[in-house]
This record gives sequence, structure tokens and C-alpha cells, in this order.
Amino acid sequence: MSEKARRKFNLTHHHTIILGAGAAGLHCAAYVAGQGRSTLVIDHAKAPGEKIRISGGGRCNFTNTRTAPKHFLSANPHFAKSALARYTPADFIALVERHGIAWHEKTLGQLFCDDSAKQIVAMLLDEMARAGADLWLNTAIIEVEKTDQGFAVTVERDGRRQTLSCANLVVATGGKSIPKMGASGFGYDLARQFGLPVVEPRPALVPFTLTGALHEEAKALAGVSVAGRVVAGRGAREAAFDEAILFTHRGLSGPAILQASSYWREGETVRLSLAPGVSLAGALKDKARAGDGRKTVETALATLLPERLAGAVCARAGVAGRLAEQGRKSLDRLDAAANEWDIVPAGTEGWRTAEVTLGGVDTDALSSRTMEAKAVPGLYFVGEVVDVTGWLGGYNFQWAWASAHAAGTAI
Ligand code: FDA
Repeated sequence: MSEKARRKFNLTHHHTIILGAGAAGLHCAAYVAGQGRSTLVIDHAKAPGEKIRISGGGRCNFTNTRTAPKHFLSANPHFAKSALARYTPADFIALVERHGIAWHEKTLGQLFCDDSAKQIVAMLLDEMARAGADLWLNTAIIEVEKTDQGFAVTVERDGRRQTLSCANLVVATGGKSIPKMGASGFGYDLARQFGLPVVEPRPALVPFTLTGALHEEAKALAGVSVAGRVVAGRGAREAAFDEAILFTHRGLSGPAILQASSYWREGETVRLSLAPGVSLAGALKDKARAGDGRKTVETALATLLPERLAGAVCARAGVAGRLAEQGRKSLDRLDAAANEWDIVPAGTEGWRTAEVTLGGVDTDALSSRTMEAKAVPGLYFVGEVVDVTGWLGGYNFQWAWASAHAAGTAI
């Protein structure tokens, strides 16, 4: 039924109301409405799928063909398995292809649109509209209450307050990252209101900030990028990432750093390797033997590392002069300065730039098959609001699609 007809008959009851018109909410709506259920998606933003639009540098890294449970962090690492197994990257690729959207693999299984992330938003809106779901934007959610029939949702729209009712309520309001894009802690507050535990949310996939001498070194190198390795975390939480490290005016960024940030906790050391798997001492000795001995050690190192970085590593290791003059100890010191560089980040750039939220609605409180709250029948949580956080590289969208499918087909 059209929204106009609904208004005319003052029909405010829906089979399902979905809070949040992001990746998970839009995808879920198509499945629920596709079964002939009256479905309404509500969002306070003025446009749907804003994070999709800006994702992947405007081309949306919409999935990763290597998706496996090991690419997700959660207090319960088994929770995501069921939904991920029942909605795979191949399922989403099939949807993308049905809509004629051209795509390519960039690296490491990461799939991007050839043209624009806006195509993914348009595709989700099309699927949802064709299934018959309604979408209300610019709508503030004032209050949610449990009723005998399900839920009462009071909203404010066009300056008018109204209370809607529904049998099922899906919370797809995402995490707290990038508040200026409409992110809020709403989903966590709602979970707590219904007595569900929340694993403390923290910014993830986020650049590190540095202070003191480390900050000065990073600032001087701002813009330099190197294929490195970053190891962060302790014990079972330890993880290593072989990707680019980028020096910035505030500290460190780049894919390897963003990945590591999800495993790091305040005060912990992070190990950087700027030439992983390469013995710089050995390579420099070879160069000296091959006739480069008269070159400065800095010039010789600049053939193995970006030039500015080579200078900074030599300075930090306190090594200078001609290559031929270097003893074994100074070359080992140089190697360690590059490959065993232990730093303690001052912090992260926080919610302002974090790509995702670690933590969220505790999975112990949810069914891994349907995403329904065990203690509150009819209440579902999907997407980033749940304590399931993917690595960088399309995994977070794959979780949004898979969890939305799990709830959308179960309702
Ligand atoms: P999402 O955040 O998409 O949607 C939540 C919706 O709820 C929003 O529309 C918001 O307005 C609405 N909402 C919030 N609070 C509300 C309230 N109180 N009332 C009403 N509505 C409310 N992932 C990936 O796999 N590949 C990628 O390329 C990228 N790139 C990327 C770039 C950048 C800059 C960011 C910030 C993030 C990414 N991500 C990503 C992560 C990805 O965008 C994210 O994991 C998904 O969008 C999560 O989907 P959800 O639907 O759960 O939340």
C-alpha cells in the first residue's frame, strides 16, 4: 500500500519497522517486504546509505571474495559464522550483476564498483522499493516502547509527532564512527533500554596519533608510504598485517595501521617493520661488496626504502658515513631501527575518522541464526550495531549484507 493511502486511512501499524537506512537496513527491508510484509524504514538523515556513498574512496569496496570468520572481531568469534555462511560474497556479487553494475577486484579479494558507490545505494533502494517497502528520511526517533502487539515507535516528521506500531523492530542504526554523517549511539541505548548488554564501543580502523619525538618524526615524513608490517595486540588478540603504512601530520595511517588499530589497546606497544622479510644489514653488506661502499649509508638505504624514510631511519639509529665504514653492529642497529621499531601510540584519531566501531550489542543476547534478541521476541539487531567488526577490505559491508539477510528472511 502506498504511503498516501496509509495516511488517508491513518494506518500506522506495520509488520516491520527498520530503524536506519544504511547498508544493513536497506538490504533487510528488501527481504522483509519481499515476503509481502508491510515494511517501513526510518532514518534521521536526509539521504539513505550515506556511508556507502563515501565508502571505498567513492567506489564502495562492497565485499571481499576471501571472506571467512577469521576476518571478524567479536567477543564471540563463532557468532558471525552462521549468517556469513548463508549469505556469501557470491550472493551479493550476483545481486550487483543483476543490476548491471560493473566491478573489479583491486587487491586481496577486495571488490569495488568501476564507476560509483552511488550505484550500490541506487541498487538497494530499487530492491527495497520493488519489494514494496516505504522509506521515511528526515525522521527523528523520539521513543521506542514494548507493547502487547510488538513495539510503539514515536517519531517526529515534518514537525509532527506520531506513534507507529509494529510487530517486529529491526535496529540497523550502525556504529558511532563519523558522527557528522549521522552516526549515533542510538542502537546501543535502545539495546540497554531492553536490558541487552553492550560490549563497550571503541573506534576501530582508525589512524594512530603520536606525541613527542615520534610525532616530530612522523610529521617530517608526512605523505611517505611504505609496504610494511604492523603487529599489534597481546596474546590471543595479537595480529600482524602486511600492507601499506602511511606517515601523517598527526601520526600513522594506511591500511596496515588501520587494521592494527582494531587489535590495539591504550598503552600497548605496536611493532612496525618498514622492510618486512628483508635483512637490511645483509642487503647493505651485499651492496658494499658489489661496489657501493663509497656511497653514504643513507644513499644506499634509499635504494631499499623510500628516500625520506631512509634518512629518518639512519638518524634514529645514529648511523652515518660511508657504507664501507659501517661495522656489523651499526648495520644491525639500522636493521632494528627499520624492522623492529616499537612505538607506543598516544591514541587514535577517534570517532571523527574511525571507519567502524568495535564492540556493540553483545552477541550472547542475540540468535546467530536470526539476529533476534533472545529475551525480546520481535526485536532484531543487524549490521555494525552488533558486536561483529570486520577487517578493512569489504568485510564490514559483507557483514551488513549477511546479518540483514539473516534477519530479513527470518522475520
Ligand atoms: P550505517 O552506518 O551504514 O547505517 C546506519 C544508518 O542509521 C544511517 O543511515 C544513520 O543515519 C542511521 N541512524 C543512526 N542513528 C540514528 C538515529 N538515532 N535515528 C535514525 N537514524 C539513525 N566498509 C566496507 O566493507 N567497505 C568499504 O569500502 C568501507 N568504506 C568506509 C569508508 C568510510 C569513510 C566509513 C566511515 C566506513 C566505511 N566502511 C566500509 C564501513 C561501512 O560503511 C559500515 O560498516 C557499514 O555502513 C555499516 O552498515 P550499517 O547499515 O550497519 O550502518
